[in-house]
Amino acid sequence: MSKVLITIDGKGFLADSEKTVLEVARENHIYIPTLCNLEGIKPQGSCRICTCMIDGRMMTACTTPVNNGMVVVTKTDELDKLRSKIVELLFAEGNHFCPACERSGNCELQALAYLYKIMVPEFDYIFPNRDVDATHPKLILDHNRCILCKRCIRRKKEAENPTWFVFENRGNHVKINFDHELTADMDDEMAQKAMDTCPVGAIIRKEKGYDVPIGRRKYDLHPIGSDIEGKE
Ligand code: FES
Repeated sequence: MSKVLITIDGKGFLADSEKTVLEVARENHIYIPTLCNLEGIKPQGSCRICTCMIDGRMMTACTTPVNNGMVVVTKTDELDKLRSKIVELLFAEGNHFCPACERSGNCELQALAYLYKIMVPEFDYIFPNRDVDATHPKLILDHNRCILCKRCIRRKKEAENPTWFVFENRGNHVKINFDHELTADMDDEMAQKAMDTCPVGAIIRKEKGYDVPIGRRKYDLHPIGSDIEGKE
């Protein structure tokens, strides 16, 4: 693997040429927010929250490979505004009632809303009429909270074929669903893994919850990104 020299936020870094901007930033403890990206699976660049200024243009850090001489800026007022509007749109588009969600405090979307100090979205709430599917023996699918990042579908497909989750319908009606046959013998560990793949509270394990009280969970204690930033 050859090396390239890139600049991130004014500092020079030697990076593997096959890595993305996001990977190199993380290796060097520079936080770039993400939602649809999950370490270990191919990035799809759909949520756009990782957008950075790359060689003077707005581009997604998770899908852009590094190049020799590349100049990356990860944080400006304009980028923060763009990211916070993406979070606001997601809150307006779904039904996210954080105080009643088992993922509260462990939810990436909620943590980003805190990071960008979002109180009320600038956009009108849509309040879509979506269902909660509790027909599976191990998992609950709450379509109200799904942000359609496809992490659940992509993870199983790439890492552990065959996939358990699928997209069904089209346009505004797209939603994730189980493959009921393949998931029939899902054990507790697999159910937990499926829940952990989701960045929000759309996939929830049945018969297990609130082990850690709200207020003492991951992002309750440390703002999102603080585990990446500041390490040597
Ligand atoms: Fe890069 Fe979603 S994390 S586009």
